[in-house]
Amino acid sequence: MASLSTEHLLGIADLSTEDIQLIHSTADDFKEVLSRKIKKVPSLRDVTIANLFFENSTRTKISFELAEKRLSADIVNFTSSTSSTKKGETLIDTVNNILAMKVDMVVMRHSQPGAHRLLSRHINAKIINAGDGAHEHPTQALLDAYSIRERLGEVGGKRVCLFGDIKHSRVAISNILCLQKLGAEVMVCGPGSLIPKYVSGLGVKVSHSVQEALAWCDVANVLRIQLERQHVRYIPSLREYNQYFGIRKSHLDALDKQIVIMHPGPINRGVEIDSDVADSEHSIILDQVENGVATRMAVLYLLAEA
Ligand code: CP
Repeated sequence: MASLSTEHLLGIADLSTEDIQLIHSTADDFKEVLSRKIKKVPSLRDVTIANLFFENSTRTKISFELAEKRLSADIVNFTSSTSSTKKGETLIDTVNNILAMKVDMVVMRHSQPGAHRLLSRHINAKIINAGDGAHEHPTQALLDAYSIRERLGEVGGKRVCLFGDIKHSRVAISNILCLQKLGAEVMVCGPGSLIPKYVSGLGVKVSHSVQEALAWCDVANVLRIQLERQHVRYIPSLREYNQYFGIRKSHLDALDKQIVIMHPGPINRGVEIDSDVADSEHSIILDQVENGVATRMAVLYLLAEA
């Protein structure tokens, strides 16, 4: 049986193209399972998984929990706001105490970039990154690429533009790496203040014109303005951001082609995307959420086997 080249999922940077393709083909099988009346398989019976969320989440947390339950794993959930980390315990001590209760895998979201890599050097369990600060969000990129493949047949050769707050976005970095490994062309579009200088070194095109970027791409993946990570003001106001960089229906109507609209969520309607775009027939935003469960089942299953 084919297996992943990595023991943990710390970032897309660690995956080969073959790893990503294996995750996607395994997700195809689990998507078929999820279409059945009985959506549960025994693949991870007797495997115990801890979901450690040190940052807020709706989609990722619920999606991982559902994926684990569909695979028959035993799960424990941890939320930092009600834990003893508030009493000064370190991350490594917290996780080692949880692992002492015989936990096999850890799914973690943490605000500190690199927290998962640090943990992987100190603990004896498989680690999956559910988002580390503005660094990586690998399962989001895997489900985004899966959703493009599902809608357009393949990712290779497609033009994908990421719009908005690239500077603070772990989704952007993971998407750029994942899409490039699958052979897509990538552009980023937003105000200069929200596009870090290093992105051009990643081999992506850069645009500051929404019209130009929409005319270029097959897929528009619109990202949220992350005010919670902005310690200085990078944009004058949300109203002005919407005026110059928000994706509106009039933009799509002006194109001589149809493009696919994506958003990882949570959406700020009327800021980076208008409702009649987010809810349009071109939008696959809820398909992304649906595909998240099958994609995460694939990641959990393959890592448990590795
Ligand atoms: N896309 C995403 O990571 O959403 P949550 O923050 O709700 O998990």
